[in-house]
Amino acid sequence: RGPRAAERDLAGRHVVVSAGGTREPLDPVRYLGNRSSGMQGYALARTAVARGARVTLVAGNTELPDPAGVDVIRIGTARQLREAVLKAAAEADAVVMAAAVADFRPAVYTTGKIKKIDGQEPEPVTLVRNPDILAELSAERARPGQVVVGFAAETDDVLANGRAKLARKGCDLLVVNEVGEHKAFGSAGNEAVILAADGAETPVPYGPKEDLADTVWDLVAPRLADTER
Ligand code: CTP
Ligand code: CA
Repeated sequence: RGPRAAERDLAGRHVVVSAGGTREPLDPVRYLGNRSSGMQGYALARTAVARGARVTLVAGNTELPDPAGVDVIRIGTARQLREAVLKAAAEADAVVMAAAVADFRPAVYTTGKIKKIDGQEPEPVTLVRNPDILAELSAERARPGQVVVGFAAETDDVLANGRAKLARKGCDLLVVNEVGEHKAFGSAGNEAVILAADGAETPVPYGPKEDLADTVWDLVAPRLADTER
């Protein structure tokens, strides 16, 4: 952890962090999910607490224990995540969307288990889009001056895709990391570039997810609205 982590520069602030992956049920025993471990979001929650913030962590599927001193809300689907994050964001100074939100969900939830039928191929699964929570948070700031941060994992043209995504989402900061075999998913470390809407670019060298988390807060803190606290 960097020396700035000790500063308690988030004292009196309320931050909302989403973490982990969402799961979109197909039937009672199956879901569409993703590989997010939740570790980066949990690191953001822990470091924010260490810097004095009140933290609400909206957590999708993870195997991680609740971090100390954090208000944890567990959710399953992207729509549940949206509801929980929007509610918590109503009184937040900053919202960081580190969750891996399923872009699509099965159009229909089958209430009974889907069974094999002898000699038949399965029915195709039709998917529909989930709401874009980050875009919604960015467009409709619950409070003036609220800081909204997104994450993006890209495999190709990382910076160009990141810049385009930042503009499309309308958030203040976008943490972009390159995903590959040994990067990001499930590993203890992370490497990223943090893009800001004002054009600033902050590279974060490979290191513990806490370091990336602290660098995110370093960039969030000076952008927070100068409100009563
Ligand atoms: N996100 C969100 N709601 C969604 C999808 C993504 O809030 N339905 C958020 C993620 O939490 C993340 C950011 O948006 O902070 C970027 O996610 P990403 O999957 O990279 O962006 P997408 O717009 O879904 O683009 P892509 O087609 O590349 O997946
Ligand atoms: Ca996506």
